[in-house]
Amino acid sequence: MLDFPEKIYDKILSLAIKHNFISHCREYPFFTLEQKLIPASAVRRISDGNFKKQNFSCGLYIHFPFCKSRCAFCKYYAENCFSPKIIDEYLWALNREIELYGIDFSDIILSNIYFGGGTPTLFSPNQIERLKNIIYKFFRFDEKTQISVEGTPESINSDNLKEWRELGINRISLGCQSFNDDILKRVGRRHSVKTVFEAFDVIRKIGIKYTGIDVIFGLSGETLKTYENTVQSAIKLSPDFIECFLFTPGGRTKMKRFHPIGSDLDSVIRFFKESLTANGYRLYFSGNFLGFVKKSVIGTKAMNQNTEEVYNQRASCMGLGPSSISQFPQIRYRTASSVADYIKRIKKGLLPLHYGVFAKSDDLKRQYVISRIGYYRNLPKKDYFNLFNVPIEHDFLRELQYLKRTGIVSETKNNFIWHFNESEMGHRDFFLHVLRYWYAPRYIRKIAKQFEIS
Ligand SMILES: C[S@@+](CC[C@H](N)C(=O)[O-])C[C@H]1O[C@@H](n2cnc3c(N)ncnc32)[C@H](O)[C@@H]1O
Ligand code: SF4
Repeated sequence: MLDFPEKIYDKILSLAIKHNFISHCREYPFFTLEQKLIPASAVRRISDGNFKKQNFSCGLYIHFPFCKSRCAFCKYYAENCFSPKIIDEYLWALNREIELYGIDFSDIILSNIYFGGGTPTLFSPNQIERLKNIIYKFFRFDEKTQISVEGTPESINSDNLKEWRELGINRISLGCQSFNDDILKRVGRRHSVKTVFEAFDVIRKIGIKYTGIDVIFGLSGETLKTYENTVQSAIKLSPDFIECFLFTPGGRTKMKRFHPIGSDLDSVIRFFKESLTANGYRLYFSGNFLGFVKKSVIGTKAMNQNTEEVYNQRASCMGLGPSSISQFPQIRYRTASSVADYIKRIKKGLLPLHYGVFAKSDDLKRQYVISRIGYYRNLPKKDYFNLFNVPIEHDFLRELQYLKRTGIVSETKNNFIWHFNESEMGHRDFFLHVLRYWYAPRYIRKIAKQFEIS
């Protein structure tokens, strides 16, 4: 904040947008800019120690980096190709990646498993069975473990879904994006609105416990009318959960500009919140996406555990497959960024690590503050004290005083509260807030040096 001229922050922001880093603004330190290799021996030692701890809670994320084609808004790593031979090789590599850790994962019961992508529902029944054998060989989970798969409506059929159910899937998330056929066409989706309803019929017939959809705001061509259509159709479809994402443009997205209607994203978000909560849904999460769950669904099992647990930065998650992130209290790292590199390294007998950071005590504090702001917009004083054994004012008095003076933050007896408007939550304004007020000066200096910013 207070430490660097405004133009430094602006230049880092442009860099973050250019390199598709902006979506990582809730992860601290901003490790995507660090690009430092960490030794496999440290990764093994730390993972081993964690998995031996009693009561260690950990999720598992497996990235499936393949799609049939590339959607214009997509920021995720996925190869735009699909051949059974590549999937077979990927499955071989996944099995080998787990073996290469050389540790016993079976002492703990996983809290959740997430098959994300890309499009995991493109697997054939045989490939899902192979995946199932891998998961069952190395990991333990039980009926309480939330096991989710992501998919596209057109890739759902009863044969592959039955096999996913055999694997233990109890939650499915279908990307619908918009309930307007011309918007779907414009962004390169391979399904129509009708396909979504047909896919849901299959999912309900097969009996996957929790069903949900993704939609996205900010695509070109959307108007208040198309958003109304989306909300009405979503209510008619009646999934257990609805996740609404704010489109974040970046290096991997073909679409380079966010398109709110006029510039009034806030009113669109308010519209989603008001109409869904008036029609049987409860807002359970308001961060980089809005998470809604049906009021009639009891408990938390339909909610995205991956978000709740990992993003509040107190739980751990192991990431497998290319371009996946693993997060433990002591370390965070990313695997090889492409399928080719991932497979090449595994064939050489190496853990396919890309880069990562070790967390220091100051990092953990800042990371906690950033994730509280990003996901909850408040920070309970007692939680901070319980975690770090000091009052937050002891560590960040200058920042808090400044933010209170500017009206961004207010203080109550037990909490600090952030007064952002909706659009600041998923985008550049939030990124700038984090960078200005919560980044340790040494990281700003490091980024400036690395990218020759002055
Ligand atoms: C891994 S992706 C896609 C899953 C599946 N392949 C599909 O297309 O439906 C999960 C969700 O992230 C959201 N998403 C993708 N790119 C995004 C971006 N640039 N900004 C915000 N959300 C994005 C989309 O809503 C998408 O459904
Ligand atoms: S949105 Fe889904 S289907 Fe489209 S490119 Fe991204 S991961 Fe693939």
